[in-house]
Amino acid sequence: MFPISKFSPSRRLRAARHCTPAGARVFFATMSAIAVHDLCKTFGGAVALENISFRVKPGEMLVIVGASGSGKSTLLRCLNGLEIFNAGRVEIGDTVLDPRAPQFRHAVHRARQHVGIVFQSFNLFGHLTALDNVALALKVVRKMESAAAREVAQAYLTKVALGERAGAYPWQLSGGQQQRAAIARALALGPRVMLYDEPTSALDPSLVREVTTIMQTLRREGMTQVLVTHEMKFARNTADHILMLHQGRVIADLPAPEFFENTSNPFIRAFLDHM
Ligand SMILES: Nc1ncnc2c1ncn2[C@@H]1O[C@H](COP(=O)(O)OP(=O)(O)OP(=O)(O)O)[C@@H](O)[C@H]1O
Ligand SMILES: [Mg+2]
Repeated sequence: MFPISKFSPSRRLRAARHCTPAGARVFFATMSAIAVHDLCKTFGGAVALENISFRVKPGEMLVIVGASGSGKSTLLRCLNGLEIFNAGRVEIGDTVLDPRAPQFRHAVHRARQHVGIVFQSFNLFGHLTALDNVALALKVVRKMESAAAREVAQAYLTKVALGERAGAYPWQLSGGQQQRAAIARALALGPRVMLYDEPTSALDPSLVREVTTIMQTLRREGMTQVLVTHEMKFARNTADHILMLHQGRVIADLPAPEFFENTSNPFIRAFLDHM
């Protein structure tokens, strides 16, 4: 189907299990949690993303930056199949998304089992408490019984320091608390990768930190994370890698220290000066 199928990640994973422990460690250290190859996306005739390629290692935090309209949200949505791209390939762990493959829908479903996504606008159900918002996701996606779902939901709300507000409705919570409930809902499903699209941009500046702290904790715990944000101070302090888009193309793919110290690239300089 695709040239890569002969050496598909799942075959490589199976092969790795037969390696010596040292060999397996080397194998897992070098594989990518996310690999994007030549991804293209158009809306009607307009090109939104053009030949995007990059990799994210397991446990890394990649921050995607760029001007408004540069394609950041579209790229993030392509990573979990919310947006169907025109060409290219996305690998999430051992799942390959290729829109030309007959199994694309099935692959999207499999990829979503491993990918949590958090948006700027929280997307909580207003008629459900924080606990029920998280529990509902577990019942629908993980097919859990109600009592077990509520127990797991409570544990994840506690993880994001909302355990005592589990019974509150979204309208009774601050923006930061609502966003933490949305993160708890995504985490409760046990993702291997977390995607965030400007998770703090709807928040009062004083509430930004309660959300960024969770991302820092997850990074220490080894979660692979991809974040679209304009919080450059946070990116400078926490990101491992920066991907910069300009008019749908990658114009920088650099380790964070290099990105922020890079004085020669005029696009990077102009962008950072403007922030
Ligand atoms: N559903 C859509 N239909 C048509 N065009 C779209 C659609 N979604 C995005 N676009 C276009 O694709 C381009 C990239 O949009 P995208 O939302 O990914 O940008 P962005 O970098 O996330 O911007 P912002 O920082 O403002 O959120 C823009 O030109 C936008 O108008
Ligand atoms: Mg966007």
